[in-house]
Amino acid sequence: MTLTKEMEASGIAVSHAIGQKIMLAFADLGLTEDMPDTPFCVAPTFETIEIVRGDNGSIEYILFTIDMSKLPTGVVATRLTSRRAVHHISGVLGKQATVLNTTGVTYAIAMGNVPPAMQRLPEPGATTMNFVDIRRNLDGNDNAILVGTLPEGITVGGRFRSIDCGNVRLAISNLSSMGHCLIGGMTQSGKTTWLHTAIASLLATSTPETLWLALIDLKVVEMSMWAKVENMLCPIATEEKDVFRVLKCCDDEMARRQELLLRYRCRSIKDFNDMLAYDPQDDLQPIPYLLLIIDELADIALALGKTSKAYAMLVRLCQKGASMGVYVWGALQNPLTEVIGTLARGQFQTRICFRVEERGQSQATLNISGAEKIPVGVRGRFLLKLPGNRLLPLQSVMLAGLRDCALDLSFYDDDFVWPCNDPNDIVQQFNDASDIAEQREILQAALRDGMTKKDIQQRIWGYSGGTAYDNLQAVLSSGG
Ligand SMILES: Nc1ncnc2c1ncn2[C@@H]1O[C@H](COP(=O)(O)OP(=O)(O)OP(=O)(O)O)[C@@H](O)[C@H]1O
Ligand SMILES: [Mg+2]
Repeated sequence: MTLTKEMEASGIAVSHAIGQKIMLAFADLGLTEDMPDTPFCVAPTFETIEIVRGDNGSIEYILFTIDMSKLPTGVVATRLTSRRAVHHISGVLGKQATVLNTTGVTYAIAMGNVPPAMQRLPEPGATTMNFVDIRRNLDGNDNAILVGTLPEGITVGGRFRSIDCGNVRLAISNLSSMGHCLIGGMTQSGKTTWLHTAIASLLATSTPETLWLALIDLKVVEMSMWAKVENMLCPIATEEKDVFRVLKCCDDEMARRQELLLRYRCRSIKDFNDMLAYDPQDDLQPIPYLLLIIDELADIALALGKTSKAYAMLVRLCQKGASMGVYVWGALQNPLTEVIGTLARGQFQTRICFRVEERGQSQATLNISGAEKIPVGVRGRFLLKLPGNRLLPLQSVMLAGLRDCALDLSFYDDDFVWPCNDPNDIVQQFNDASDIAEQREILQAALRDGMTKKDIQQRIWGYSGGTAYDNLQAVLSSGG
């Protein structure tokens, strides 16, 4: 369709200004010649520009066709829909733009935050899989993560892959490509359900030799089914006092890896594992990936307090973990809290967001608004951020028969002994101790953990020196 005078007369004139703006945006980028006085429909590069409006009159798509022979020298047509060009158009029009189609000479830019593909996803609950289905579908993909079902006709690239599975297409990735992952979404939007599917897919495609898990879930029951799978690095933290211990286990493990990589001059755990595969050594084992999952990251960060050792460990895991195969995934109901801001938010390379109530919450999770537009009640619907602030809508796959997983996984049943105690919790432990001998052990353990006598005195007796010092000596030396 060519915009002619007649069309303008029949009501398309309003589009004129928008067309002009688009032309200027392209001209700004050097993609067309700057001809501000030329009516946009006859500017050299474009044959047609068509504006498609929705029922309420707002612009939904901009379609344009290009006369290739008239592109300025050196400009290839695909640059017109490059990330930079689309970003620029978004800026000029003051609206989010998404490229829908880059085939042939017709280009379509969808206006608005939520691509229309959103409607062509399976209904909530329509895609459920049990552990065996997941294992079958992901066969041959190591440490695979089942991300969700894709809209019809959409494929993905880069860090994600699409695979056909019956009548749906699945987006999958793997742990090292996903990296640290932030999962936003209001209550009951589907975060935990997504996590279960992701965990099941990882367990289906890995072994305790290739993947370790650590979980923090203060809601206690949400993650309990994974408590005794063999891949667990340590027990699930279900109480505040366990949070420190789980973080410490992960932090210690990170330190161990760092030392190994330094000693063997390897740049990543992959280098290290490749080295061992090539030249096995009796006293060295390959290093598995370690995934730390925190359901309700905001609660944890608040409970820990920003000045605590535990918080510092969490930040360190986010900053240094990825290069050591240690990944942190955090789910948040309200990503707006200053929590993730300070928690090295930039380290989370994968962002997904289920429905949120406010635009700002979507921005806090995805860097871009859109998740507030996910219709209420469409549970498991979420947006995945792709490079260049593009958003891909997906629907999560529900894991059926959680308890049956037990039949397919190996479990350990010995009692786990925590390798470390929370020095912050020494007061509690000290007061809980049943006799003075136990108190002495607690103090000695704290000293071994690196606490100073002064610290201990300050914490337990509220001051140091004098009587506190005497108390400490009395307890430490009691019973021989
Ligand atoms: N993909 C899906 N299809 C259908 N229903 C779903 C899907 N994902 C989640 N649900 C349903 O939505 C409800 C809430 O899911 P979930 O517990 O995962 O939410 P949540 O975001 O973790 O909530 P909270 O923040 O309160 O923990 C559950 O009853 C679950 O069955
Ligand atoms: Mg939840």
